Amino acid sequence: MSVEASKPKAGLEDVVAASSSICYLDGQRGVLAYYGYDIHELVRASFEEVCYLLWHGRLPNRAELGDLQSQLAAARPVSEAMLRLMKQLPSSDGMDMLRTLTSALGQYDPEAGDNSQPANYRKAVRLTAQMASLVATYGRLQAGGGPIQPDPALGHAANFLYMLKGERPNALATRAFDVALVLHADHELNASTFAARVAAATLTDLYSAIVGAVGTLKGPLHGGANADVMRLLIEIGPDAPPDRVDEAIRGKLARKVKIPGFGHRVYRTEDPRATHLRKMSKELGERAGNTRWFEMSQRIEQLVTGEKKLYPNVDFYSASTYYTLGIPIDLFTPIFAVSRVSGWTAHCLEQYANNRLIRPRTDYIGPSYPQTFLPLDQR
Ligand SMILES: CC(C)(COP(=O)(O)OP(=O)(O)OC[C@H]1O[C@@H](n2cnc3c(N)ncnc32)[C@H](O)[C@@H]1OP(=O)(O)O)[C@@H](O)C(=O)NCCC(=O)NCCS
Repeated sequence: MSVEASKPKAGLEDVVAASSSICYLDGQRGVLAYYGYDIHELVRASFEEVCYLLWHGRLPNRAELGDLQSQLAAARPVSEAMLRLMKQLPSSDGMDMLRTLTSALGQYDPEAGDNSQPANYRKAVRLTAQMASLVATYGRLQAGGGPIQPDPALGHAANFLYMLKGERPNALATRAFDVALVLHADHELNASTFAARVAAATLTDLYSAIVGAVGTLKGPLHGGANADVMRLLIEIGPDAPPDRVDEAIRGKLARKVKIPGFGHRVYRTEDPRATHLRKMSKELGERAGNTRWFEMSQRIEQLVTGEKKLYPNVDFYSASTYYTLGIPIDLFTPIFAVSRVSGWTAHCLEQYANNRLIRPRTDYIGPSYPQTFLPLDQR
């Protein structure tokens, strides 16, 4: 087919751009599955079990899970060099920090340039452990505290909350955060995963591919939406009566302002991840004795779904879930990365294993060819 005859679909909607065994997505029925396991089942597993699944294509037995937990625990401490770098950064944006320090991790990893499968697997484990520690430590420093050493006895979710807050989280908080990590771990060829695969397909190193993914996730049309949801809730105000919530949302819809946390490129029904996060937001609010954020979120959902037939996506209820867990808004999108790094690295491993350079074409719509070149003094 000639390039002239092929018109792209805006945003590559519904274009199949890769073959992959990792994630099954059915947007009509609202199905999300990793290696065939429905997300509604996987919320019963830990994030570490899901990492193993994404990297190996099957669930671990107890011994295999134990090995992975030990590898993650060994890779969690933040080095002095990374800590120094974190403290020197001029920006106080969590995603900018994460993008820069993910890149720096590569510089300090002696295996960074080894693109063999075993080395890339080890780097996937280290990246997953380190990103969580970096984000938690960053949150701790931003709040004026000192860094907390990881506790090898804690799982990934509990350890993150511990390193962020300096106290061991209760069972409900740990479970809620673990579920959030499981739900965010992979999502087929979303923008950041596509960016990572395109980078990996050049046979660049894994760190470079993940840096690209972090930068892509930052955008408000992608992972950045969870922080925007919370800013919207706060802008309306925790004590706003229902009619003020309605007025604020209707006003935005009338002005064609997008409501963060709603709509999806693939789902035409409820995002299955939102089902669990809605429940988490409610449970955590009840435990904290403050369901106002949850109630306001529900009200907004009723309005937006009722008026625009748009459903909440993963970002909508994760906002009130994280906020109720006492996590600062600046960490919401970095937390998305803390989970999604498992999927990004799984996709990169898959890409490296059966690689061909990803190099599509454009539909050229510029000036006709050939244009007459005029030397500088005649223009
Ligand atoms: C996710 C998203 C980027 C998908 O984009 P997309 O597939 O390109 O869909 P479009 O932006 O073309 O939206 C299609 C229509 O729905 C409307 N729409 C989509 N999401 C909307 C939202 N969150 N609020 C209000 N209207 C929305 C668009 O304005 C557009 O309306 P129009 O046809 O009258 O112009 C989009 O829904 C969005 O921007 N959502 C808010 C950000 C967000 O939550 N991102 C996280 C995604 S997991």
